[in-house]
Amino acid sequence: MSTVLYIKADPKREDESNTIMLSNEFIEEYKKHNPKDEIITLDLYEEGIKFLDREMVDGMISGELNEVYEYARQFAGVDKYVISAPMWNMSIPAILKAYIDYVVYLDITFKYTDHGAVGLLKDRPRKAIHVVSRGGEYSSGKSADHELGDKYIRTILGFMGIDDVKTLKLELTNVLEAEALDEAILESHEEARRMAREF
Ligand SMILES: Cc1cc2nc3c(=O)[nH]c(=O)nc-3n(C[C@H](O)[C@H](O)[C@H](O)COP(=O)(O)O)c2cc1C
Repeated sequence: MSTVLYIKADPKREDESNTIMLSNEFIEEYKKHNPKDEIITLDLYEEGIKFLDREMVDGMISGELNEVYEYARQFAGVDKYVISAPMWNMSIPAILKAYIDYVVYLDITFKYTDHGAVGLLKDRPRKAIHVVSRGGEYSSGKSADHELGDKYIRTILGFMGIDDVKTLKLELTNVLEAEALDEAILESHEEARRMAREF
């Protein structure tokens, strides 16, 4: 049995957000195939995640048992991560970056050694998926180098020791005509179900 942390980083209503509709499709199919798994849903907007401030940074250094510590402990305690985050300004919504600043926590998710920093989440097999909807096309073509969100998520998860990271995407939502967009959405949902069965 695995525990899945389902992290949502889109302020839109669920039935308006292409990203959340895609990740919900993934989660529903996953549940069908893994009925005993526990899914913890963390809506970062509902949680009211704030930017790390001076007090929080001091608390991280002293290891104070505060909210930031609890989020980091929660992050370290699960087996699988579903990160649902639209592309914003070539990258991720700031609230997700703020949450990442909570969970990259010394001696919980990484530590320093004589050979530099090492991820502590290598202790067991863990996997993650980044679910993303983008207005344009960034997975290939001339804008691929400008894609910084998926690259960042993969890099920071790798830093903490999570190397098995997949991407589930819907692209061109701001470009395609209605009919072609409906088709692309259907295809992405089919891909979501396929990836969920293997997750
Ligand atoms: C604040 C903001 C910034 C955005 N920046 C980009 C961008 O840099 N590139 C892009 O292709 N689309 C961008 N978009 C469009 C979204 O990525 C697009 O609508 C995507 O399908 C996410 O939709 P969703 O919120 O319905 O999940 C942006 C949208 C918003 C609201």
